[in-house]
Amino acid sequence: MPLKPPLIVLNMKSYQESSGENGLNLAKICEEVARENGVSIVVCPQQVDLTYICKNVTIPCLAQHIDPIESGGYTGWISPISAKNSGIKGSLINHSEHRMILADIDLLIRRLRSLDLISIVCTNNEATSRAVAELRPDFVAIEPPELIGTGVSVSSAQPEVVSGTVNSVKSIDSDIKVLCGAGISNGIDVRSAIDLGTDGVLLASGVVKAKDQREALLDLISLI
Ligand code: G3P
Repeated sequence: MPLKPPLIVLNMKSYQESSGENGLNLAKICEEVARENGVSIVVCPQQVDLTYICKNVTIPCLAQHIDPIESGGYTGWISPISAKNSGIKGSLINHSEHRMILADIDLLIRRLRSLDLISIVCTNNEATSRAVAELRPDFVAIEPPELIGTGVSVSSAQPEVVSGTVNSVKSIDSDIKVLCGAGISNGIDVRSAIDLGTDGVLLASGVVKAKDQREALLDLISLI
């Protein structure tokens, strides 16, 4: 497992603040903070910036989404092998803002594993987390959609969903790692997530849209 818990996964989404050069600057901040503080930080750059950012930082980069296709005549789609060629170490799958059907999630988990890529499958509640755990991804990331982008942290607003998901997933396969996300924006949110049994967090706006992204990141890791 190249991604060592506790893990901070920063999803850059499609924000202006993380596009192009802004995305590379943010990834470099993450790289420095990870190196100087000995913490695991992973970034999910915007899809169009994947090759550029992968080539210019040493921390792992993940895709935000991959399509369940092989190489060939698929205009505008991203195949797992093309994504791998960009330099990524894995991908988010089924993010709340890019939902997929269960059969395709299954296919992608298998395909990524065959390419030696990590799968982080996002889920919206405990039941979908259980269903996804049966597919044996590397990570399940529980994110209640109603809290995404609100600044209200899942680890303080819905601790029972987080600990319930950890218990459900680990009872199916204790090797599957669990992340939580939605509204995570400071060190206390991250500490609570870890205390609830998770292996780390998945977040976006708390860092991407912060006035000072480095300060926000330093605060985030301050209680790890
Ligand atoms: O993928 C991370 C995510 O959906 C949470 O977003 O802005 O609430 O940290 P945010």
